[in-house]
Amino acid sequence: MHVSAECYPVAKAGGLGDVVGALPKYQNNAGHIAKVVMPMYRTKFLLSHQWEVVHKGYTNLGSWWFTYTIIKESANTLGFDLYLVDINGLLDREKIYGYDDDPERFTAFQISVVDWISAWEHRPDVIHVHDYHAGLIPFMLKHCFRYQHLQLIPTVLTIHNAQYQGWMGWDKSNFIPSWDPWKWGMLDWKNTINPLASGIKCAWKVTTVSWSYLEELRVSANGLEALFEYERGKCSGILNGIDNLVWDPATDTYIQHHYSIEDAKEGKAKSKQNLCDTFDLDPAKPLIVFIGRLVGEKGADLLPQAFGDSFYHIGREMNFLVLGSGFPEVERALEDLKIYAQGDYNAYIGYNESLSHLMYAGADFILMPSRVEPCGLNQMYAMRYGTVPIVRDTGGLRDTVVDFGVPGGYGIRFSQVSVGDITQAIWRAAELYNDKEKMEEIRERMMNLDFSWETSVGHYIDLYRSLK
Ligand code: ADP
Ligand code: GLC
Repeated sequence: MHVSAECYPVAKAGGLGDVVGALPKYQNNAGHIAKVVMPMYRTKFLLSHQWEVVHKGYTNLGSWWFTYTIIKESANTLGFDLYLVDINGLLDREKIYGYDDDPERFTAFQISVVDWISAWEHRPDVIHVHDYHAGLIPFMLKHCFRYQHLQLIPTVLTIHNAQYQGWMGWDKSNFIPSWDPWKWGMLDWKNTINPLASGIKCAWKVTTVSWSYLEELRVSANGLEALFEYERGKCSGILNGIDNLVWDPATDTYIQHHYSIEDAKEGKAKSKQNLCDTFDLDPAKPLIVFIGRLVGEKGADLLPQAFGDSFYHIGREMNFLVLGSGFPEVERALEDLKIYAQGDYNAYIGYNESLSHLMYAGADFILMPSRVEPCGLNQMYAMRYGTVPIVRDTGGLRDTVVDFGVPGGYGIRFSQVSVGDITQAIWRAAELYNDKEKMEEIRERMMNLDFSWETSVGHYIDLYRSLK
């Protein structure tokens, strides 16, 4: 049973949604029974699908008693059983995150999930929780008096992003159903309740979404470094896969001009033409795109200056297109650049799933100057669509992209999160673009890579089996 705040296509803010929407499907395909439970937000998916009520419960968040309802998607459209937790007024909102009462929302969600599972006639073999939003569940199963009968259910915590930890003041400790006070240390990190730290301490196993990210967490984990060092025995890295059925340039329903390895050159050229027409760019120049959250982790704050410097040093020899939303000051700087670099640069500020697919298909390069990248899916999608990744040498980017300067390589890697390094990488991209033969060779090599979920599913199953 996967417990998560996001699951594509029900609700997605980033890669967590993609992973939880795909991993269970591939686990089921491999002959296992994997299900997902998540909050019931007010999304399009909710309104356009059929649901049946499978459970109603009554429980409490501190002194607030509430009714929760578990609904199940009737038609099994996602390839696995999907359950939503409805808590009136608390979860059924349009956004996933970003409310002042997020601690209440996600704690009530987790209590409802555990409460519901405690009413089952059988027990799940494993409860697999994702990120801090579900990080208190391993503690609850081990140390809350009313769930003692669930103590022997193995738990796995997968960390997609250790930057966000769900900190709550100790004044909220009564939210968690009455627990063994001797175990307060299992909730605490530096005098606050830290749901991610608690998950790391209490889960039977912990995984991160790439090997390199796990290494990095021991030296840089937003305050949890010592904990990762201490708990290293139960931690392992399992690289994410991508859903090859959703992300396939030969069948992608979001793009008009389909292609595969054989006709990638023509297919990509048509998609590029479309994009350039829409965004007033020149298809003869290399098109470098950025897709993602406009936050510090992604290095998005450096984009405006890196683009400006590239125009200055290399000349107006390339086009840039940005899709993303995030910090208002970064959004503003990216909007302002439109005036200065009209015809060579454009940006769509916002979230747009279909445009993202078009960009993976139509771009020549995708830029990912991430400060932190636990795995990163963009580079894998891009490579499947024949788009060369330009990435900073970190986390999952390091584990999936080999620089084309190395024999057999296919991407561009740079080491520092600095405007200078980014600009130099862009310069290498512009050079590579002019070497048509090399570009084709690299494209073919990338499109032949296999980032499908099958291998990682095997690793997760081995991990679950080791818990028996
Ligand atoms: P993260 O989860 O840290 O944001 P990932 O690389 O794992 O990064 O996943 C990002 C996912 O979100 C990809 O599927 C990407 O295409 C998508 N995405 C990010 N920003 C946008 C946006 N503004 N519009 C559409 N899709 C987006
Ligand atoms: C997080 C990470 C990203 C990863 C995704 C899915 O959002 O920031 O690197 O790919 O989770 O695991």
